[in-house]
Amino acid sequence: MSSIEVKHLNVWFDDKQALRDVNMTIPNKGITAIIGPSGCGKSTFIRSINRMNDIIPSCRVEGQILVEGKDLYGPDVDVTEVRKRIGMVFQRPNPFPKSIYENIAYAPRIHGTKDKRKLSAIVEHSLRRAALWDEVKDRLDKSAYDLSGGQQQRLCIARALAIDPEIILFDEPCSALDPIATAKIEDLLSDLKDEYTVVIVTHNMQQAARVADQTAYFYLGELIEFGDTTQLFERPENELTERYITGRMG
Ligand SMILES: Nc1ncnc2c1ncn2[C@@H]1O[C@H](COP(=O)(O)OP(=O)(O)OP(=O)(O)O)[C@@H](O)[C@H]1O
Ligand SMILES: [Mg+2]
Repeated sequence: MSSIEVKHLNVWFDDKQALRDVNMTIPNKGITAIIGPSGCGKSTFIRSINRMNDIIPSCRVEGQILVEGKDLYGPDVDVTEVRKRIGMVFQRPNPFPKSIYENIAYAPRIHGTKDKRKLSAIVEHSLRRAALWDEVKDRLDKSAYDLSGGQQQRLCIARALAIDPEIILFDEPCSALDPIATAKIEDLLSDLKDEYTVVIVTHNMQQAARVADQTAYFYLGELIEFGDTTQLFERPENELTERYITGRMG
């Protein structure tokens, strides 16, 4: 678990600015939700936290993101190491076209774990941690594509857990799932928050209210308000936040 200190973060795609001077400290404890209307920069923001924006040629990032006091954008930073410490789960489940077992074992193996027994232990532990073990333990050699959408998403969470990250970023992890699969993921998030720093982007304000300890509201690339979830929803300090949560936008 690590806190994330964001200082004067500005992000551009070519000459279009997507984030404007974002400053916030995401505490190491609990779940932080990022909410805001489409296009306000939520994905860009969390993608900055594990340097996923680096792979977009038009993208330019300025500012600092300190994890354990060390700037992820500093000169001597190993980006592979950053992505190992900071896992990410996307909107659409994106398992590899491989077996359930291989989906989990792949990353630990390329990071150096070769021992079969150790790998099997990691696979089991990660699947248990992602509340999927009981559903798949008898068919680990079957294709990940045979799983339901909700199961695939939990597999992707297990895959992120397998490399033992400190921080896990979720970009609308439930938006492709039905209410039952969504409830399972929400329960899982609550379990994970004692061990990992969890940041979740969600379009769904009820979801933020249900799972998040802190909530940040973004609008047009700016962080408008950040604080305790209950307070932000019940007594927002900024009029822009109030307009959004009461549905009086635009
Ligand atoms: N790869 C890209 N190339 C160019 N512009 C981009 C790229 N990704 C995002 N943008 C722009 O940056 C801004 C923020 O986009 P972002 O995807 O972060 O928004 P979002 O809040 O996640 O929206 P949504 O809720 O629809 O997912 C938008 O104006 C978007 O068009
Ligand atoms: Mg997005």
